Amino acid sequence: MLGLSITNVSKVWNPKGPNPVPAVTNLTLDVALGEFVVLLGPSGCGKSSLLYIVAGLEDATSGKVTFDGLPVTQPSPERSLIFQEASLFPWLSVRENVGFGLSIRGKTPLERKEKVDALLRMVGLGGAGDRRPDELSGGMRQRAALARALAMDPKVLLMDEPFAALDIQTRARMQDHLLQIWQASGASVLLVTHSIDEALALADRIVVFTARPGQIKAEITVDAPRPRDLRSPEMIDLARRCEALLAEEVTKAFKEQELL
Ligand SMILES: Nc1ncnc2c1ncn2[C@@H]1O[C@H](COP(=O)(O)OP(=O)(O)OP(=O)(O)O)[C@@H](O)[C@H]1O
Ligand SMILES: [Mg+2]
Repeated sequence: MLGLSITNVSKVWNPKGPNPVPAVTNLTLDVALGEFVVLLGPSGCGKSSLLYIVAGLEDATSGKVTFDGLPVTQPSPERSLIFQEASLFPWLSVRENVGFGLSIRGKTPLERKEKVDALLRMVGLGGAGDRRPDELSGGMRQRAALARALAMDPKVLLMDEPFAALDIQTRARMQDHLLQIWQASGASVLLVTHSIDEALALADRIVVFTARPGQIKAEITVDAPRPRDLRSPEMIDLARRCEALLAEEVTKAFKEQELL
C-alpha cells in the first residue's frame, strides 16, 4: 500500500526495568497517500511515542510500520518529524537551519538560497534568516522548524503539536499555510493536537485515542470542504462528539496520573 501503514504496534518503555510503561497497545492505523489524519488524545496516552516510532527514531516493542510498503527501520527525510518542542541547531542561523538538509542533498548554494528564502517568507520569517534560534520567540522557532521540515519535500509530515506554542492568530495563519502546502504537495500528514478546533479545521479523519496505553477509541471522518466554518451546525456537532469522547479519557488519564 502507498502511504503509511501501522499494524498492531505496541510500545513499552523500560520493558526490562522495574516499572515498564506501556505507551501504546495494538494500534492499527493507515494513513493513505495525501490523507490528513489528526490524533487527539489525553496527555500521556502515547501520541508522541507513536510518532517517534513512525519517524524511525524508536523501535516498536511489537508490530510493524511500513511506508509505501517498505518497513520503517530508521529516520528518513521522506518522513519529517516536527517535535513537540521546536528543535533547531542553536549554533546555526535560521537560514542555515532551514537549508541544512538541502546542503546534505547536494543542492547548489543558489538553489538552496531560493528555496530557503521562499520557505522563510511562507512561515512569516522572511526577515529573520540571519538570527540564531535563541534570539527568536518560541512561536518563531516552531515556524522555523516547520520550514526546515518542508525544505526536504517530505512524503509524510509527522507533526507533534506543532502549533501549540503559537498565539491564536499566528496559529490560525499557520494552519492555513499548512493546508495550502499539504494540498500542493500531495504529502500525507499525521498531526497530533490537543485542540479540537484545530483537528476540525485540518483533518480528513480524526483519530481519538484512549488514555494510556493508547488505543484507538473512535475515528471521525470530516467531509466538509476547506476552509471550514467551525461555527456551522455540522462542525459544532462534530466538536461536541470529539469533546465527549475526549472528556472520558482525560478523566481516566488524570486518575491514573494521580496514582503515579
Ligand atoms: N523515553 C521514555 N522513557 C520512558 N517512558 C516514556 C518515554 N517517553 C514517554 N514515556 C512514557 O510513555 C507514556 C506516553 O508518553 P507520550 O509522550 O507518548 O504521551 P503523549 O500522548 O505524547 O502526551 P502529551 O499529550 O502530554 O504530549 C507516558 O506515560 C510517558 O511517561
Ligand atoms: Mg506528546
